[in-house]
Parts: sequence; C-alpha cells; structure tokens
Amino acid sequence: MSFDLSVMSSKNIIVAVTGGIAAYKSAILVRRLKDYGFNVRVVMTQGAQAFITPLTFQALSGNTVHTELLDTEAESGMGHIELARWADLILVAPASCDTMAKFAAGLADDLLSTLYLASKAPVWVAPAMNQQMWAAKATQRNLNTLVDDGVHVIMPNAGSQACGDTGLGRMPEPEALAAQVQQYFHQAQRAIAEKFGLLAGKRVVITAGPTREAIDPVRYISNHSTGKMGFAIAAACYAAGAQVTLLAGPVSLDTPNGVERINVSSAIQMLEQSLALLDQGCDIFIATAAVADYRVAQVAEHKIKKAGDELDVSLVKNPDIVATIAQQQQRPFMVGFAAETRNIEEYATGKLLVKKLDMIACNDVSRSDIGFASDQNAMTVFFAQQYKLARRELEKAPKQEIAQQLVEAIHDALQHHKTPV
Ligand code: C5P
Repeated sequence: MSFDLSVMSSKNIIVAVTGGIAAYKSAILVRRLKDYGFNVRVVMTQGAQAFITPLTFQALSGNTVHTELLDTEAESGMGHIELARWADLILVAPASCDTMAKFAAGLADDLLSTLYLASKAPVWVAPAMNQQMWAAKATQRNLNTLVDDGVHVIMPNAGSQACGDTGLGRMPEPEALAAQVQQYFHQAQRAIAEKFGLLAGKRVVITAGPTREAIDPVRYISNHSTGKMGFAIAAACYAAGAQVTLLAGPVSLDTPNGVERINVSSAIQMLEQSLALLDQGCDIFIATAAVADYRVAQVAEHKIKKAGDELDVSLVKNPDIVATIAQQQQRPFMVGFAAETRNIEEYATGKLLVKKLDMIACNDVSRSDIGFASDQNAMTVFFAQQYKLARRELEKAPKQEIAQQLVEAIHDALQHHKTPV
C-alpha cells in the first residue's frame, strides 16, 4: 500500500497501554504506526507495566515512555498538559475495563485518566478483556457513556482468549488498528484538499510510462521510461485535491493512494483510453508518457522464425496523443513534456506551439544525474504566450518535489486561463 508520508510525519499519536495480556500486541502497534511515519509517544498505566516493560516501548517509539502523573523529573521533560496538547490522537490499546470505568466516571487519579480529561484530541479505545468482564453490565454501561461522550470505540473481536475462555474481548490485530489510524488521517487530509487544495475539484488525466508496440506475439519495441515522474505527478495532483486517472503503460510501480489507474500497452490503446476519458470530463491533461513514435505496420500473427542474416520490419508513425487531445473541441488545459539534449528553449517552445499546449516541462537528458530511471529531476517550464508567465527553472530535486512545483505552475496558469476549466 502507498500513502502520503508527509501528512503522517506531522501527526502525533499517543498510544496508551493499560493492564491486559493484549499489551504485547501494542508493541507491534507502535512499530506499525512508526512505519506509517507517525510520531508516537507511549503512556503506560501501572497495570500495563506488569505485562510489558517501558523499555520495549521506548526502543520502539524512540521516545521516553510516560508512566507517572506526579513525577517531578517527568514533568520537567514533557508535563502532562504539554503531552495532552501534543497529541493529535490518543489511542488506548488495549483499554482495560478499569480504564473505561475511569474515563466514564471522569476520574483523574493517574496520568492516562488525567490526559483523557486534559486533551482536545480525539480519543480511540480498543477494549480487550475477558469475555465475561466485557459482557458485565457495568462495562456495557461505561461503554455507552464513552460513546455518548464522543469516544471512538474499536470493538473487540470474538475468539479464543488467553484466559482459556471463548467469546468477545480480543483486541483487533495491531496491523488493522494502525491501518485505521492511517486511514483516519488520510481521509481528514483528503477532505481538506478537496476543499482548499490547489487543484480542488479538477479532473486530471495523466499518461505515464512507456508504450509497448508488438512485433509478433512474443516481441515488442519499447523504451526505458520508468513512469516515476508521471506517478509522482499523479500523487501530487491527488494531494492537491484533484480527481486523478493515471493511464499507465507497462511499468512496475505501485498506484499512488486515491488515484484511479488504467493500464494500457500500445500507443493506440493509450490514445483510445485518453479520448474515452475526455468524454467523461477532464479539466487538465498531463502527458508524461514516453510514447513510441512508431509502431510495427503489420504485427505478425505468429512468432517470427529465425531465418537469414537480416530482418526488415516496417514501421508506421503513431498518432501524437497529446496533440490529438489538444485539438478536441472540449479541450482541457494541456501539459506536455519534452526530453532534450540541446537547444532546450527552442525545441520546447516549438513543441508547445506545434502541439497547441498550454504548458511544457522540459528536462535536459544529456545530464546523467537526472531523468529517466533517476529519482531526481530538474526541469524548465514554459507557458503558452497567452498566460504572460515567465519560464520557470525547477532546480534538481526529488521527483516528488518537482511534481509539487509542477502542480503549483499548473495552478498559477489556470488563474490566467481565459476560458476557465
Ligand atoms: O514530440 P515529443 O515526443 O518530444 O513530445 C513529447 C510530448 O508529447 C510528451 O508530453 C509526450 O507524452 C507527448 N507525446 C504524445 N504522443 C506521442 C508522442 C509524444 O502524447 N505519440
């Protein structure tokens, strides 16, 4: 699964561990949350420390573990009020029935119950206990109170319990809990992007990767494009609030989170899908694909057998996808790419005009440190004359950063667009 690490790395999670045998699962929970990129601090009750040591959580979270409310040393580090303000989410896992009772009653006689009252952050509890204790009237009463108070309860699973019983009370697996937390922040971020992002409400189609032109059933003509730039742009457009469809040639990359992906092989297929997507509505078309300029005139029905020292394969020109889309009546804002080794400005602006593009991003492929298979890129962006925007130099940076700057360039140009898309 892929996700936007930059969002998660700015989020602070308190994992509160209370006394129950499921506390051993919390170690993996902390690990998974860290894998997602969250900052994690662990709070432990006294009961929790009977099952697992603070040292385990200190090593996994990379932070001192918080155990005491009235400890001068701990308070001089990060006091309980500071900790309460630090948290973007408090996840109590496992939540014992004693902790649920304290929360429901509003007690503040240890660090965790005090944090619960002192924090404005959303509180999630994952109750885990013996099935009889879970079913007890007092526990169910407290559960209802917590739900009424706005606490998000992750219900326990049914199954065999460490105590030998079978029934409800097992803490869900840590991987599933961590994924729910990630999903929660991802959705919150998406809601903001859809409203306020630079490309909020825009429908974007991006072509990416190489195309593959068949010679016979087992052979083809292609190129070294990896699709990395196009995939990074798809992720950046989605993060900016757009609805994104990625038309991908044969590449081995994970689909960015939230992006719709359609796999194609040949240039003809890429063009057909582009036209179909245009019919469904498209505001911005970004052509990053390295489309094969030629295809085999007559694809052999059967595998061509070795014979003679030479083999002639006749090629015909492929349609220019970006230029074809730019000629359509319902024309989106058109972004093209150019890879050049010299005369960058002349060639790039030439393509801008000939293909009737609104913007073109050009990279110098004579440089060995950027481009095709690299994770870095550097580009010069040119706009069509009507935008009255000066060319932009995007200095060498990871492709994700270049993608973000391209989104900003598209946004700026759209502000000058005469017929709003
Ligand atoms: O002419 P050239 O291949 O250098 O142009 C590059 C730009 O045109 C890129 O944006 C590329 O995706 C697009 N293109 C296309 N269809 C083609 C060839 C190039 O969409 N057949």
